[in-house]
Amino acid sequence: MTTDPTTDSPDVPTPDDVLALGAEAVAELQAATDLDALDAVRQTWMGKKGRLSLVKRSLGKMDPETRKAVGQAVNTVNADFGRTESARRTTLELERDRVVLAAEAIDITLPPRVPTRGSLHPLRQTLDAILDVFVGLGYEIVTGPEVESDWFNFDALNTQMDHPARTLQDTIYVHGLTEAPKRDDGTTGMLLRTQTSPMQIRTMLDNDPPVYVAIPGRVYRQDTPDATHVPVFHQIEGLAVDTDLSLSDLYGTLMAFARALVGEDVKLRFRPHYFPFTEPSAELDAWVPDGQGGGKWMELLGSGMVHPNVLRAGGYDPEEVQGFAFGIGIERTAMVRYGVPDLRLFADNDVRLLSSF
Ligand code: DAH
Repeated sequence: MTTDPTTDSPDVPTPDDVLALGAEAVAELQAATDLDALDAVRQTWMGKKGRLSLVKRSLGKMDPETRKAVGQAVNTVNADFGRTESARRTTLELERDRVVLAAEAIDITLPPRVPTRGSLHPLRQTLDAILDVFVGLGYEIVTGPEVESDWFNFDALNTQMDHPARTLQDTIYVHGLTEAPKRDDGTTGMLLRTQTSPMQIRTMLDNDPPVYVAIPGRVYRQDTPDATHVPVFHQIEGLAVDTDLSLSDLYGTLMAFARALVGEDVKLRFRPHYFPFTEPSAELDAWVPDGQGGGKWMELLGSGMVHPNVLRAGGYDPEEVQGFAFGIGIERTAMVRYGVPDLRLFADNDVRLLSSF
């Protein structure tokens, strides 16, 4: 602080002294790096014993002329100080908030728990694919009872009393269910259907010709499980009855099924066979390559032209209509389709196998 030669007191500051003090204070405000430092600067200059406060207080002791000039400088410095301080405060507050927000931030996101997605069982996929083919050919899909009377399962299907399939060896009889009349051989007449074929009879009894139906379902036999047999398995029965059907219609239908399910290049064998309910009868086999140049034939289905006795049991006149029928093994078809060598694998429910389809 210099002394003004025009005043008598060496302690009275000149306006320039005040402005210089103001510049110094503003520089300190701008240099403050946090809010505490800023408050300290305010205290140094504007507090009770602050350097600018002292100047202000000394104004009262100046002569009017000097007071006016110094007072103006004090006002300027006051205004500068206020403006600078508030701008600096805003900046430092924003800075503080940014640091606090960053430090206290909580990540409320979690890695998503992706639910494991199931898929349809390969047998169900195969069943759906087979039904798609027959729906495309104009067939209606129907289902029927698994507990069946032996009249529907055997008699009506032209299966004589002495047919080996009727003995307890193959058929699982249901004792205690007496819907069908008791028979001479002592059976109750109720059984777990051994085939979906009884639905041929139920369909004919319920509908006038023409009929084109596909009947998926579970069937039961007293079989010891091995690679190609299980006691519970699935079939799709097909029945077409119309006024002008021949063996070539059956053949064309079965080719369409096999190509759609196994592939256009599937190697097939249509081979004569015997079934009580069809005449003539045939089985369709598909070649399953073993990947080493060899392979084996796998039976996919039984089929034939519907026997006149079966048409009669269904209430139809064999002189007026003909029909063809077939029973597709769904497990067998899936084995060929997916190259699964043992059909027991479909029932094991090992997810490692099931999730690969
Ligand atoms: N029901 C026969 C079986 O389970 C399969 C069968 C053969 C069905 C010939 C038919 C058919 O409709 O015409 O072995």
